[in-house]
Order: sequence, then structure tokens, then C-alpha cells
Amino acid sequence: MEQAQQKLFAVTDSWELSKTNFDPQTRLLEESLTSLGNGYMGMRGTFEEDYSGQTHQGTYIAGVWYPDKTRVGWWKNGYPEYFGKVINATNFSALKITVAGEVLDLTKQPPSDYFLELDLQAGVLRRSYTVNIAGNHLAFRWQRFFSLVQKEIAVFNLEVELLAGPGCEVQISSELQGDIQNQDSNYEEYFWKTKASGITEDKNAYFTNQTKENAFGVPQFVVTTMMKNKTNGTLQTEHFDQAGVQQKYQKTLTTADAKLEFTKYVAVVTDRDYPLENQLSQAQKLLNRFSQNDFSQALQQQAQAWKKRWDKADVAISGDPAAQQGLRFNLFQLFQTYYGEDERLNIGPKGFTGEKYGGATYWDTEAYALPLYLALTEPKVPLQLLKYRHQQLPQAYHNAQQQGLKGALYPMVTFTGVECHNEWEITFEEIHRNGAIAYAIYNYTNYTGDDTYLKTTGLEVLVGIARFWADRVHYVPHKDQYMIHGVTGPNEYENNVNNNWYTNYLARWVLQYTKEMYCKYAASSPITVDQQELADWQQIIDKMYLPYSADLGIFVQHDTFLDKELKPVTELSEKDLPLNQNWSWDKILRSCYIKQADVLQGLYFFNDQFSQAEKERNYQFYEPLTVHESSLSPCIHAILAAELGLTSKALELYLRTARLDLDNYNHDTEDGLHITSMTGSWLALVHGFAQMKTDHNQLSFAPVIPKQWSGYRFRINYRQRLLKVNVTPTTVQVTLLAGEPLELNVYAEKYLLTLQNEIQVPVHRNEE
Ligand code: BGC
Repeated sequence: MEQAQQKLFAVTDSWELSKTNFDPQTRLLEESLTSLGNGYMGMRGTFEEDYSGQTHQGTYIAGVWYPDKTRVGWWKNGYPEYFGKVINATNFSALKITVAGEVLDLTKQPPSDYFLELDLQAGVLRRSYTVNIAGNHLAFRWQRFFSLVQKEIAVFNLEVELLAGPGCEVQISSELQGDIQNQDSNYEEYFWKTKASGITEDKNAYFTNQTKENAFGVPQFVVTTMMKNKTNGTLQTEHFDQAGVQQKYQKTLTTADAKLEFTKYVAVVTDRDYPLENQLSQAQKLLNRFSQNDFSQALQQQAQAWKKRWDKADVAISGDPAAQQGLRFNLFQLFQTYYGEDERLNIGPKGFTGEKYGGATYWDTEAYALPLYLALTEPKVPLQLLKYRHQQLPQAYHNAQQQGLKGALYPMVTFTGVECHNEWEITFEEIHRNGAIAYAIYNYTNYTGDDTYLKTTGLEVLVGIARFWADRVHYVPHKDQYMIHGVTGPNEYENNVNNNWYTNYLARWVLQYTKEMYCKYAASSPITVDQQELADWQQIIDKMYLPYSADLGIFVQHDTFLDKELKPVTELSEKDLPLNQNWSWDKILRSCYIKQADVLQGLYFFNDQFSQAEKERNYQFYEPLTVHESSLSPCIHAILAAELGLTSKALELYLRTARLDLDNYNHDTEDGLHITSMTGSWLALVHGFAQMKTDHNQLSFAPVIPKQWSGYRFRINYRQRLLKVNVTPTTVQVTLLAGEPLELNVYAEKYLLTLQNEIQVPVHRNEE
């Protein structure tokens, strides 16, 4: 059922998101969509100037979080005592303006000529408008970026021009605002306390705050934010206190001297990298160095840094600007959330754009993000994601122990590796996430062809996870089978089910893969598994129960799924959807409606293990029952639909994933972007329409193209090569841009790709 969409930006296939109307009603949405970041920190696209309309000033620093006391109705043993929250930090963007004593605030002086542009190519947010204020007509032009060149730096630039009028004094108050409260807080507590604020000898102002003490042994974070302001106006006053720091500047604009330019350079340093005693000197050093370049030079460097990323990841769809725009926007947001610089960091479902789900780590990373980073960046980027989990292996053992189980259980939600989510059906039951961590090791090794990580480090993680599954299954003597009871599958619209097919299949696969890899690499393995344990695993592998319906020829989502009243989503009325906003929770749990790919998630992961007919039957059975109320869902269905030749359906699902935030499909984008599910559009294009597969050390493509498109192209990094794939309605062209010759399959035919010889094959269009 088509849900209402809300398009804020002009749909074009250019590199910008732009709009020309100012609408206070959609400001929150606009703020989310224009968020900027650089992997280290980020900010919603809030205004620098005062704004008394609806706004959520959100500034987030990667890896800086707070353990908020758990809040539940009824405490259950084993609950984590805290829920990790990404924390809204010092607002360093503020540039408050007064003109002839009157405060600039767009709710009070409605702007004309409003123009807002997010430049995806260069990573810059621009905004301009004119206002009448105190009898003068003035133009304001704002630009900001979060530097890719120096991760601790953000830059805000303002030009003010007197267009008409007698002239006026413009005052700018450049501020670091430390009095910040989280929107997402269980007890409405402040998470910060002020440590210091002041002005350095060379006139840089700073503000240092620290997260409050907590009862859970989580280290406190200390964050220093420092600013250097450059302007042709004059410094008037400085002020600092517990709430923040201000530096005021003023300039009188006249017809003879009508312009003012102001640049605010900000450095943010934390004790994740520098102890408190070095933070001021470090911030100062960074600011002094960075601000030597003028603003336009800094912009150029920023554009070059983005170009390097885009050169590896170029992707384009012709003939469908909406599809193109969504995809580019998503890659932009992903790359500014994570680019693998720091192995202590991960990819939060909302990145730096909002608080709920915040910057915590979910299975989304391994299941959805890793495949994209494998193809679009150097292998060292996805490798960081694997190392992140390896570092947290001791905590994974701790999590399993908390549940009275052996082995390692990776958390559903975490900052440190310790589970910090507190709904029992997720924390205790949604254990399939553990399999995704193992799958990522396979995925990395298989894609890159490099087994170094697997045999030296990864095995430790695999064995830990395998041991968890070996303990979590139970043997049922009268059936002579192993089962897994009391789980939540990826479909969170059912809890405490027995034998979720996906979970059982994944658990068996983990045991099998770990056993094979252990036997292959025992000599280099950092961990020992004895013969008895290997034999026990084999028993489970041989006797794992996997629910199957011979009548329907499908894998059954769990033991009693087929006993439900099975009615397709199309029979629901518009008032029912989305279910999570219209139905009581028990009604959802009893229903047959599936929140997100579940059995189909397994068919996607283990695509080579199922026949086309099996995929077809399962897709046809489950897709009509799926409401896609998780943003992670449509892409998996799109990939399978494309494989099955259901190209129009694949396109419909593709658009839903590609434009989820741009069109605010789920009516919640004002809270922040769905960063991890943004990978879905690329996955749907490359794994779906282009049918890129990499199983068994063999790269292959079997592209289909929706009739609405006149072409698509993308680049991938594969085993030290850079390839370009270009698909038109008639031809598939594969070009080697860099690297050694490579044998690959196109529509199951073998070709040798070399720098001199590209591959050109007619498109075999699958019939609908
Ligand atoms: C989904 C989970 C996902 C989480 C964070 C939930 O709505 O059901 O699978 O991990 O969101 O994206």
C-alpha cells in the first residue's frame, strides 16, 4: 500500500539537494536531511542564527555517550542496568545576529529569496536569504562544512550584505553553548557538567564539559570545544560562564562599505584522543594550523577530499532523477557517518542526525553496511568494522554469561560491547544478531580474497559465537533434533517464537563454517577447539531442525507461523498502516504481518544455497505479508524481486529504500536519518538489479534494468581492482579501471577482463 510521501527538495539528478521555500512547518525534517558530519562528529542542519521556531539543535561526537539509567515497567533479571545514549554535545555553530539592535530570527523576519543547498559533491551546506530589518534590506549567505581533511574541525562562514537602506550596525555573537539537554533521556536528566570555559591568550574561546558520573563504571568523557573567529569587523566583548562562551563582533554596514564576512573555525577534542591537560593546546594547534588557509582554500580541500571518495564509489542512474538523487544522498550520508578512520567506532542507525537509536552499534552494520563498504572503499575500511567486534569479544563472553550461556553473544545495541538495550524480547531473544557478526567475517574474507584476518584473529570471534550457539540449542530426544526456542527473529513483530527458521539456519551455518575454518587454519588459530567439541558441533549441524512446509514448499518462519490467520497486507485498510502506530502491540504480535525480511534475509545471505524455485516460492509467500515497517526491509525484498525478474516490484521497493528519508516515507525523518538502512539503495542496485555475486571466489553479474531507466553505472573495488559496470537497456559493459586482469561471469558466461579489453554483452532482460 502506497504511503504518503513528503518531498522537501527539488528532484534532480544533479549533485545538490536544493530548495527555494522557507517553511517553518518542515524545519525539523529539513534539519535532519541537511545534517553534516565527518565520521568524527556531526550536526543537524540547524541554523547558526537565533531561531524561535521548531528546532532540534543536535551536535554529536562519535564514541562519546552516556549510560542512561534503564527505565522499564517491570524489572526482569538480566536486564542491562543502563541504556547507552548518544549525547547531544556543546552547540558550536551559534552565530547570533542583531541588526540595529533587532535580533535576526526567521520566525520574526520572514525571509525572501530563500535558498538552501546541500552540496553532495563537496560536503558543504549553503543557505541564503534576504530580510528587511530595521529599515534595511540585507542579504545573508551561510556556508558550513565538517572537515574531512582535519576531523576535529568544523567551519562556519557568513557574509552579510546591505542591499538597500540607510545602513545599520550588525552585531555577531559567536558562541559555544554548553547548556545542552538530550531529547532522548529516560529521566530528563542532564548528562553533562561544565568543567571550564575561558579565552586563551591568542583570543580563542573555549568551553570544556564532562559527562556526569554514573553508577555503572562507564568512563566519563571530557570534551573541549574551541573557536577562532576571523572577520573584518571589530571584537567588542567576550564573556564566559557555566553555560558557554560568547565573543561579540560588530560592523556598521553603509552603502560605501556594504559587506561583512565572518568565519568561525571550531576544533573539538576529547579525552578519547587527548587527556584533559593537552586538550587546550591541541585544539589551539589544530585551529591555528587550519585557519591559516582562507575559507575558499579550505572549501577546495574539502571538495578534493570528497572527490577521492566519490571516485571510488561513483554510481549513477539515468532517466530517473528521483532514483539517482536518493542513491547519491544515501552514500553521502553514509560516508560522512563512517569511513573507517577509527577502529573504536561503528555506524549508528541515526549517525550524527538524531538521538533515538543514536550512535550505538546494531547488527545493521554487519548485515547491511559491511557489504557496501567492501565494494566502495579500500578493504581497510570494512576491516576496521571487524576489528571493532574483535576488540569487544571479552564483553561478548560477558553478555552470554549474563544469560547463563557459554561462548560469546554480541549485543543487539552497544557502545562498548556490553549489551545496553533493555527490552527483553530484544536483549535476550533477538540473538540472530550473533550470526551476522560471524557472517561478516565470511563476507569480508570471501569478498577480498584475503584470509589473514580470518586465520589470525577472526577465528577467535567465530569460535566464541559457535560456542554460544552450541550451548543455546537444545536436543529434543523424541525428535532426534536440535532446536532453538524462545527467540525473536529479524521480524520484531513476533517474540518468543520457537525455531525461527532464519536463526536456526544461521546458527547451523556458523557451526559449519567455524568448524571448516578451524580445521583449515588450526595451525595459525589463536584459540584451540578439541576434537570432542568439533564432534559435538557436527551433531548439531547434522540434526538442526529447520521448519519447512512440504505443502507450500517454503521455509516456515517459525513453528506456529502457518497457524496464524494469513491475510495479505493489501487486505488491510489505510487506517491500519503503519501497524506500529495504529494497532495495539498484542494485536501486532498475534498477526501474520512481518516487520522486515526474516526468512528472506536468510535467502539473501545464503543466496547460493537455494534454488531459483525455492527463492520464488518463499518470496511469493512472504512478500505479501510484509509491511516493511523497518527501514532495513525493502532492500532485501528488492534484491530478491530483481533476481526473480520482478523488475517493476524491485523498482518500487528500491525507491522506497532509496528515498526513505528524502520522501519521509515513515513519517519520522524529523527525528533523524535512517543511516544504516541507507545502504539498502546501493545493495538493491548492485546486488539486486545488477545481480552482483561473489560466492566461491567468483565475481559475477546478471543485470536487469527497469524499463523506466535509460541506464545505470557503478564502480566497485574488488580484490585490488577497480571496475566500472555500465548497464543500458541493450548492453552490459564491464571495464577494468585499475588492477590485474580478472576472470568473471556475466550471465553465467566466463570472460577475461583486462585493462585493454572491456566486456560488452547484450542485456538478457528477465521477463516479468
Ligand atoms: C529493526 C532492527 C534494527 C534496528 C536499528 C529496528 O527497527 O527491527 O532490525 O537493528 O531497528 O536499525
